Amino acid sequence: MAQPLPTLNLIGAGRVGQTLAHLWTRCGVLRVQDVLTRSPDSAQSALDFIAPDIYTARAVARIADMRPANIWLLVVPDAQIAACAQVLAANARQRTDTPALAFHCSGAQSAESLAPLRDLGWSVASAHPVLSFASPQSAVAQFAGTPCALEGDAAACDALRHLFTAIGAACFDVRSQDKVLYHAAAVLATNFAPVLQTLAEAAWHATGMPDDLVLHLRERLLRNAVDNIVALGPQKALTGPAARGDFAAIARQAAVVADWDPQAAAAYRALSDLALRMAGHATEPPQA
Ligand SMILES: NC(=O)c1ccc[n+]([C@@H]2O[C@H](COP(=O)([O-])OP(=O)(O)OC[C@H]3O[C@@H](n4cnc5c(N)ncnc54)[C@H](OP(=O)(O)O)[C@@H]3O)[C@@H](O)[C@H]2O)c1
Repeated sequence: MAQPLPTLNLIGAGRVGQTLAHLWTRCGVLRVQDVLTRSPDSAQSALDFIAPDIYTARAVARIADMRPANIWLLVVPDAQIAACAQVLAANARQRTDTPALAFHCSGAQSAESLAPLRDLGWSVASAHPVLSFASPQSAVAQFAGTPCALEGDAAACDALRHLFTAIGAACFDVRSQDKVLYHAAAVLATNFAPVLQTLAEAAWHATGMPDDLVLHLRERLLRNAVDNIVALGPQKALTGPAARGDFAAIARQAAVVADWDPQAAAAYRALSDLALRMAGHATEPPQA
């Protein structure tokens, strides 16, 4: 006789929760059971997307209404994870639930956010899929091949590796003590490019450059930079005054940027220092 599927409860069911639960349901590795969001309506509409044919799945209004499950996924906003874990632990303690597996998907937090559950003997972890979940529909279509960082208890990570691999993720391990730095690196790798582009375009506009030329430069320079970084690596792709060790040009430009936008000038100086270090020009040459 076939083994019953492990049950999954969801606390939070937005973009990430719906995507993962839908994929696990579709590939038949888990059975979604109870779903809690901020309102019964949004929980029901999440369930309609995740598993419209599973009539034993329920939208509930409180953690106390959720049935014991094998796996609990806390996919609420980061700021809510620890509080939800606390309430879940208090309920599980009161009901003397059998210890289960609990995990969240935050890149910025470690499994430590689930400490109240670990204290009850639960197995806890974080699993961070490195994908921009714009909507559940788009993320379901894009998910295959997504790198996924696993961190936490060994038993929880092993179980999650199996589950995430089943839906096409490429799992890798991050040590608990490295989780925050790991995520800061992801921020460095991706989040600042739009910030720098916005500053560059505002500065070009301040020089009177027409919109169509700004858009043309946006596309040319960004594509050029990405192509060079991918082909040559970041070190060899570095160009500009820092790569040439041109301290005078950097100082002149920093002063002009400071007149235009002092906060942008602080970023310009800090990034120029890092670029100089990267290019091996860490110290300013002595004045003649
Ligand atoms: N979005 C991404 O690209 C992405 C990528 C990787 C990892 N993550 C991580 O995934 C997690 C979830 O992100 P998301 O983008 O899926 O968030 P989201 O789309 O904003 O969904 C959050 C869900 O949590 C529910 N919720 C909020 N507060 C709650 C509470 N106190 N109790 C119960 N449910 C509550 C919301 O309810 P309602 O439906 O009623 O509003 C919603 O269903 C976060 O840890 C995030 O860092 C996100």
